[in-house]
Amino acid sequence: MPIPHEPISRDTLLEAAVAASQEAGALLVKYAGAGFHIEYKNPINLVTDADRAAEQCVIERIRAHFPTHRFLAEEQGRIEKAQSPYLWIIDPLDGTTNFAHGYPTYYVSIGLEYEGHCVLGAVFDPTRNDLFTAIEHRGAQLNGRPIHVSNTMTLGGSLLVTGFAYDIRETPRNNLDHFSHFALRAQGLRRTGSAALDLCYVAAGRFDGFWEVRLNPWDMAAGSVIVREAGGRLTDFSGKDLSIYGQELVASNGQIHDAMLAVLNQESP
Ligand code: IPD
Ligand code: CA
Ligand code: CA
Repeated sequence: MPIPHEPISRDTLLEAAVAASQEAGALLVKYAGAGFHIEYKNPINLVTDADRAAEQCVIERIRAHFPTHRFLAEEQGRIEKAQSPYLWIIDPLDGTTNFAHGYPTYYVSIGLEYEGHCVLGAVFDPTRNDLFTAIEHRGAQLNGRPIHVSNTMTLGGSLLVTGFAYDIRETPRNNLDHFSHFALRAQGLRRTGSAALDLCYVAAGRFDGFWEVRLNPWDMAAGSVIVREAGGRLTDFSGKDLSIYGQELVASNGQIHDAMLAVLNQESP
């Protein structure tokens, strides 16, 4: 008989995520100052010892509180020591290329699934000391203050953001077609190098919409809860509810969502 798992309070869980994200963030800043070692997964996809150290820090901190919980972490993959309805989904350094170049835009992203459903997230920016958090049905916050998506009604008035996967050189699904379509329709277009930031900035109303192809679950887990709780809409390119295990993401303030889907589904000339 499997042992029944007592649900733990969401506040307790979020507290652990916040503490771990802040500790890992401080570690990243230390590495940024002291120096780090770079390895290449492919010519443009890199990883540093700072990524690995921050990930180990997050896992150890969370495991100290919840020893039976499962993990899905970018560098170590799945860690499942016991059966548990809790799965922590971790990107210890979202924005590795920025980090490696000394461009100070990178985040620690920690999401939590309970029985396969994302219920909370914490995303910490150690360079600005900004903490984005959300618990399902309880709204989203930036540094403890409620945040909400923007009210922009049209694509022509929107600031949009996107990113490109590391296989951009190998696949025709490289997002360059969508990028040029949106460039001709939006008020402005950005590429920040951190999907976690892109999601949190949609939640805070700083971007009106974000799309990307082939993100990983650790890029989206925490940020997707934060967008949802800030009143945003999250789908794939066909308009179906977002799966963080899927290939496509559209996140917006809701108002411009259908217009974004129409652009994503338009034929290339
Ligand atoms: C990357 C960033 C980037 C996105 C890439 C991701 P990493 O994550 O989120 O914005 O465009 O698709 O892989 O490698 O910096 O953790
Ligand atoms: Ca990432
Ligand atoms: Ca990463």
